[in-house]
Amino acid sequence: MKYNSKITATGSYLPSKILTNFDLSKIVETSDEWITERTGIKQRHIADDSQLTSDLAFNACQNLFKTTTLTPQDIDLIIVATTTPDLTFPSSACILQGKLQASKAFAFDIQAVCSGFIYALSIANSYISSGMVKNALVIGSETLTRIIDWSDRNTCVLFGDGAGAVLLQATENQNEGIISQSISSNGDLVSILKTNSGASLNQRSGFIEMQGKEVFKHAVEKMSNSVFTALSKANLKETDIDLLVPHQANLRILDAVASKLKLPANKVITTLQNHANTSAASIPLALDYAHQNHKIKANDIVVLEALGGGLTWGSIILRWQS
Ligand code: ACO
Repeated sequence: MKYNSKITATGSYLPSKILTNFDLSKIVETSDEWITERTGIKQRHIADDSQLTSDLAFNACQNLFKTTTLTPQDIDLIIVATTTPDLTFPSSACILQGKLQASKAFAFDIQAVCSGFIYALSIANSYISSGMVKNALVIGSETLTRIIDWSDRNTCVLFGDGAGAVLLQATENQNEGIISQSISSNGDLVSILKTNSGASLNQRSGFIEMQGKEVFKHAVEKMSNSVFTALSKANLKETDIDLLVPHQANLRILDAVASKLKLPANKVITTLQNHANTSAASIPLALDYAHQNHKIKANDIVVLEALGGGLTWGSIILRWQS
């Protein structure tokens, strides 16, 4: 028996502390006008010193479990997509498993930077289609502001902290849930978006370094091509898309991809003005916003897409269940 996997519940969490563009302009030479015009971002949420990535993930999961009859004890698999784990080891997913008391599950992290949630969803989907897993929790959680150089205005204005979670469940209906995907990476492009250190290099996590214009160019081209590939695998056209839930990096990137897909603004979920780029957390945050605000209807074709350091990129197409 081959199973499909469908998202049956969502949850998210943003830390209460907010740093506005105006606040940032007091620590680095920038302005609300510049940040808004170049990125669309108005504010970002910052985790409290005592809050770790697994805490943000735990809060997102708590919110998710308020919306489903399942409990953590029903979960078979937990994947946390993160670039900012609590510890080098064990994984934030195992730490989260302990906090949730999800004793039946097996748990691990995956690291594909801003594409992490797409990669994690794709892996969970494989476990479900093989019949090995029935209920998976897939989470994107980041305390990205911990790896930001607050004196570098090229990067510090772009990122924020947060977490989003989905419950992915097996279904025997082959026409619902994840119906297509396209996952890619290119290790020749490591240098355009990376940290300047790491555990193996000198035991510090390092700060984000980025060639903004290069990343921008690759993001638009690779994310739109990835969606076209996934659409064609599912025998769909761009006109079949009901909702695009993109990685929330930059409004100009979202607009450029939407324009290549000929999508009007009302078919694109945009939440980055509120929380900036939260890397692996951004798609589940945006998806939870869309779900809670009834932007997704039964049978809708929903497209998720992302690009991140690596470079890594990919897209997933779902037909929302009725
Ligand atoms: N405030 C004010 N001025 C700034 C700031 C700032 N925060 N940052 C840069 N500038 C200045 C630059 O120094 C430069 O000044 P100069 O002309 O005197 O040299 C000027 O603004 C223009 O800088 P550019 O880098 O050319 O600006 P650009 O239009 O490319 O916008 C940006 C920069 C927003 C980073 C853009 O390149 C971008 O969004 N790239 C994508 C990066 C991204 O999203 N990364 C996230 C991770 S990957 C992902 O999630 C897809």
